Amino acid sequence: MLNFVFQNETRIIFGKETEKEIGRETKKLAKRVLLHYGQGSIKRSGLYDTVVSSLKEHGVVFSELGGVMPNPRLSLVREGINLCRERKIEAILAVGGGSVIDSAKAIASGVQYDGDVWDFYCTLTEPENALPIGVILTIPAAGSESSAGSVITNEEGLLKRAFNSPLMRPKFAILNPELTYSLPAYQTACGVADMMAHVMERYFTTVRGVELTDRLCEATLRTTVSNAKKVFKNPRDYNARAELMWASTIAHNGLLNTGRIGDWASHQIEHEISGIYDIAHGAGLAIVFPAWMKYVVNNDVERFVQFSSRVWGNEIDPFNMEDYAHQGIESLKQFFSSIGLPTSLREAEIGEDRIEEMATKATQQGRIGNFVKLGKNEVEEILILAK
Ligand code: NZQ
Ligand code: ZN
Repeated sequence: MLNFVFQNETRIIFGKETEKEIGRETKKLAKRVLLHYGQGSIKRSGLYDTVVSSLKEHGVVFSELGGVMPNPRLSLVREGINLCRERKIEAILAVGGGSVIDSAKAIASGVQYDGDVWDFYCTLTEPENALPIGVILTIPAAGSESSAGSVITNEEGLLKRAFNSPLMRPKFAILNPELTYSLPAYQTACGVADMMAHVMERYFTTVRGVELTDRLCEATLRTTVSNAKKVFKNPRDYNARAELMWASTIAHNGLLNTGRIGDWASHQIEHEISGIYDIAHGAGLAIVFPAWMKYVVNNDVERFVQFSSRVWGNEIDPFNMEDYAHQGIESLKQFFSSIGLPTSLREAEIGEDRIEEMATKATQQGRIGNFVKLGKNEVEEILILAK
């Protein structure tokens, strides 16, 4: 096990009707805030009205910026930064999913920076301060509600880039599983794939002696799979929705990578797909992850055997460990298909013409991944396997 520091300052407020706490929680952070949201789901569900009345009740003054798109865009971030400066905003409330939260994080870190906020995403510099952020989460998926990361797409060049700073971790996140009843089945499925991918990025490590985090990863994956099945049978199953919501946070709040180094190549490859084709991040991961696994499985068959056995409950054939390792990959792929996700580029109506461009962009800053280091040619081969 490697040395580590674990700190996660996001206060999680979990359960039924917790969104009504937004005014009280926000008041602890600031009096003048920006209310940031997406393309209308919070208005349709009535959440917007609840938020507004709670903020008013607690005397919080707010400005609004809606319209965040999935795969959030840099232009809206810049607009948000200007608005915050003009109105002397002291904190940002993100009400929505990973896209809204990531956009809020970008705004929060750009307000007091003299240069262009995109500098952070190009790793040219790091923010020295950021406005505090509060969250009401409406889709379990990205884990952004308690992560230090933000992922933004620059429309110029369709570059989707991530950056991490502990300053961007939300101060609080309100998680009411009931708010996820309104999710379309496809968005629920994309969220499930993303949270599983966050665990698998950490699970496939070369670090040895990390049994506790291995088992925590396996528990999170198994819980996600079994409760996703329940949610697809009954979208209003509170406990199953609650398990998924908590799993999405656990998957990406830093706990599961304590003492180990994750891989993250699949995420980097996927960001090139959703950057160019604007598909949901979770759908992109359902395509990339099984292909990445097929490409790297022979580097550590034993780890894939463990995945096959402990996560999917496949029965071991001691005389054919390689097949057994592949069974785990097949189980994952079948599960993704069973919840309506594409598992090939073709199923997502993506052709082969930009594979080389994606491989070039993904490796622009050098080789990616840690389980196996990948250069441009290897990434290209993975994308060809994903055809
Ligand atoms: O915009 P609205 O109208 O709100 O609709 C959204 C959007 O269309 C809808 N939705 C959300 N909650 C809903 C709902 N519809 C009905 N009922 C609800 N309760 O769902 C759609 C997708 O929302 P989005 O925020 O894009 O989803 P997600 O949470 O999956 O976020 C994806 C983004 O997060 C990034 C991804 O790359 C992608 O850009 N990621 C962020 C990470 C981080 N910051 O730590 C890590 C991840 O690996 C990921 O890369
Ligand atoms: Zn992700």
